[in-house]
Amino acid sequence: MSDNNINSNKIRRIGVLTSGGDAPGMNAAVRAITRSAISRGVRVMGILKGYRGLIDGELVEYNARSVSNIINRGGTVLYSDRCIEFQTEEGMQKAVDTCREFEIDGIVAIGGDGTFRGATDISRHGILTIGIPGTIDNDITATDYSIGFDTAMNTVIEMVDRLRDTCESHARCNVVEVMGRDAGHIALQCGIAAGAVGIALKELPFDEDECLSRIIEGKKNKKRTFIVIVSEGMGEHYAEDLTKKINAATGIDTRFARLAHVQRGGSPTLRDRFVATVMGNRAVELIMEGRKNLVVCMHEDKIVETDIEYALNLDKRYKNKMTDEQFALLSADDQNSITERIKHKKENFRELYEVSKIMSI
Ligand code: F6P
Repeated sequence: MSDNNINSNKIRRIGVLTSGGDAPGMNAAVRAITRSAISRGVRVMGILKGYRGLIDGELVEYNARSVSNIINRGGTVLYSDRCIEFQTEEGMQKAVDTCREFEIDGIVAIGGDGTFRGATDISRHGILTIGIPGTIDNDITATDYSIGFDTAMNTVIEMVDRLRDTCESHARCNVVEVMGRDAGHIALQCGIAAGAVGIALKELPFDEDECLSRIIEGKKNKKRTFIVIVSEGMGEHYAEDLTKKINAATGIDTRFARLAHVQRGGSPTLRDRFVATVMGNRAVELIMEGRKNLVVCMHEDKIVETDIEYALNLDKRYKNKMTDEQFALLSADDQNSITERIKHKKENFRELYEVSKIMSI
């Protein structure tokens, strides 16, 4: 990793914040950022409650010991908030004033796309900002991995394994709703790893009749346990309705479980601690190089930095939140690379979904 700190003599103090939904591993990232900065002679301010703390001036000075014993803790010791005021001119001005008052030269912001939008806005006022992806949904298109995903999935697997035990005893079906408002990554990978007979997610059509036939067929073949995973993105009550349908169509006693925020808590796994540490260190390196408006990503197993503007455009296009007219305004290079990456990502997703179907006979 590079150590060419071209502007490092200008960086005296940085801030770190977590914003949006919390994710296990955020604390490991806060620790890594703090220690990486301090080891380079840079002071660190912990900004409390995300952008809200920047507006209200709620900051605490961190030293190497302030972040002891947090690598293993879930949640975020900096707290988090979804701050509407930050999106106003007035809120932004207050945040920038706080940065000036505390002499903050750079900010590392850990969170999702909303967090990165905020970081971009601040960087327009001369503050170096770097984003780190932290969300259990793993739905930031520019990165293959976001902090918290692995822990959340391991929690899901543990819960589903428990449900499987009791399903097997009573010959039941359990429909389990997992998180992911905008993306079915948790559902897809957990569905495969939990041996689900069906996975419903919004990215791909879900054939209910085919799933019902598979369950009926399984029952005929003396199968006793049926797990169906539903992604939250399928919409409110979808999972409960599907539970009733399975009950009625198959005659199998079918129960419903929503795992909800259980998935967001807990001690981070090795993967989340490791990725958080490496990304946190890289974010500080980038600031020391005088770089800004970047998000630290994982792409093809490497840690790489991506322009935040590009990352946000890629994300919007992937989630169908960018019109063709808006897309046409991007540079030809960006259009080509965004189209390629989306194609690749969708193909990958479809292939995994096919694997899940093969396994569910
Ligand atoms: O962190 C992302 C996420 O878990 C989504 O999957 C979910 O819809 C959302 O957060 C719920 O978060 P909250 O209850 O904090 O608004």
